[in-house]
Amino acid sequence: MTGTKQSNQMWGGRFASGPDAVMEEINASIDFDRKLYAQDIAGSRAHAAMLHKQKILSAADYQAIDNGLLTVLREIEDGQFTFSRALEDIHMNIEARLAELIGAPAGRLHTARSRNDQVAVDFRLWVKQTALETAGQIRTLITQLLKRAEEHADTLMPGFTHLQTAQPVTFGHHLMAYVEMFGRDLSRIQDTIARMDESPLGAAALAGTGFDTDRFMTAQALGFREPTRNSIDSVSDRDFALEFLSAAAICAMHLSRMAEEIVIWSTPQFGFVQLSDAFSTGSSIMPQKKNPDAAELVRAKGGRINGALITLLTVMKGLPLSYSKDMQEDKEAVFDASATLELMLAAMSGMTGDMHINKAAMKAAAGSGYSTATDLADWLVREGGLPFREAHHITGRAVALAEKKRCSLSDLTLKDLQAVHPAITEDVFDVLTVEKSVASRKSYGGAAPQEVRRQIDFWKKRLAKNRNAA
Ligand code: ARG
Repeated sequence: MTGTKQSNQMWGGRFASGPDAVMEEINASIDFDRKLYAQDIAGSRAHAAMLHKQKILSAADYQAIDNGLLTVLREIEDGQFTFSRALEDIHMNIEARLAELIGAPAGRLHTARSRNDQVAVDFRLWVKQTALETAGQIRTLITQLLKRAEEHADTLMPGFTHLQTAQPVTFGHHLMAYVEMFGRDLSRIQDTIARMDESPLGAAALAGTGFDTDRFMTAQALGFREPTRNSIDSVSDRDFALEFLSAAAICAMHLSRMAEEIVIWSTPQFGFVQLSDAFSTGSSIMPQKKNPDAAELVRAKGGRINGALITLLTVMKGLPLSYSKDMQEDKEAVFDASATLELMLAAMSGMTGDMHINKAAMKAAAGSGYSTATDLADWLVREGGLPFREAHHITGRAVALAEKKRCSLSDLTLKDLQAVHPAITEDVFDVLTVEKSVASRKSYGGAAPQEVRRQIDFWKKRLAKNRNAA
């Protein structure tokens, strides 16, 4: 099969023949890196403008190149561009088309750069844009959760440890736990954006260039804070993509936990929430069923993002400096992870926005399982002066008694309780109901509705500031 094709028109000067079909297949990235067309054209336009300002490119050539690049952009956006595998990647596809359009001046665009810094700048621009969009989506989800937490700051629900009823909390308090998690995701993504905000363009193949270029100018034109400082690192670094993937993986893990809770809460056995018809599916055989497919898929999809992170870590591990073709394997994983996270965040915002909260079921469950036992123990410490360990033991006996009588702690009579410990008085009933238990948890960050409202307020302000800053 070798020798039948023409050698590559972009780099084939020393090649007598074209590539084997398998070589073309393994080498070409155009099927996926065409996604970078807008970034590639923006990078080329910034580079050409800089070459012109530095008198490396004549005014006429610059004009021809810039107009030609705009034509290519339009062709791609209008679906009129023919991508060619023989031209390997997006960089050479665009440059070859530019040559068809404007002739000789096209060959001057690649002065003082290489595909190594070109792909580095394209990919950074793409990841930065995606990360900004992710940040926006996380903000939308947080805003949504804050709204629902505010509606349900007083809605009683059982809090769990080991998925066993532990102590009563409110649904608002529970949602605010997720606000904290997604708030950390937001700050992680933003830290990542700040760190990647450096332009590698102008590092050329790996060593910089002998031309009198202005890397600060291209960095600024492309919206980067500054140029990268080391030309070798510029073309061999993919930390920006790895950081995006790690932040995405953590966020996806949070989404999967929330999705799992929605799955549990929407079972008939729990019955805490009901997903809207818009976010459920039916069963083709069991007419009574309403399935939380969107939640299940959000729960599952994190696997792809973890996979993407491991893929890229593995691609980069052990690579010698600077660029190696291995690094072409950086893109598909990131594209897939980004699209996956976008869908997960949208589905979670959708589901939580209109799901119905069954307050009665939550409240009933909040009172089951002797969830106020800790309140009784705390009361014995506070009012009876007992050491906590002893109070814990006495409370255990009260729970055993309630279990025997098949009633809740607050349904035991004073006589029952005094039989367990004589120090117990009528006042104890003030803490044994779920409402009172929750209301008493006024410690900073605790479940008391007033405390939950304080945290909602904190996040509203923080988010408003964050929105202005971004
Ligand atoms: N398609 C390549 C990539 O994505 C572009 C850089 C190629 N550089 C090279 N020297 N072959 O990594």
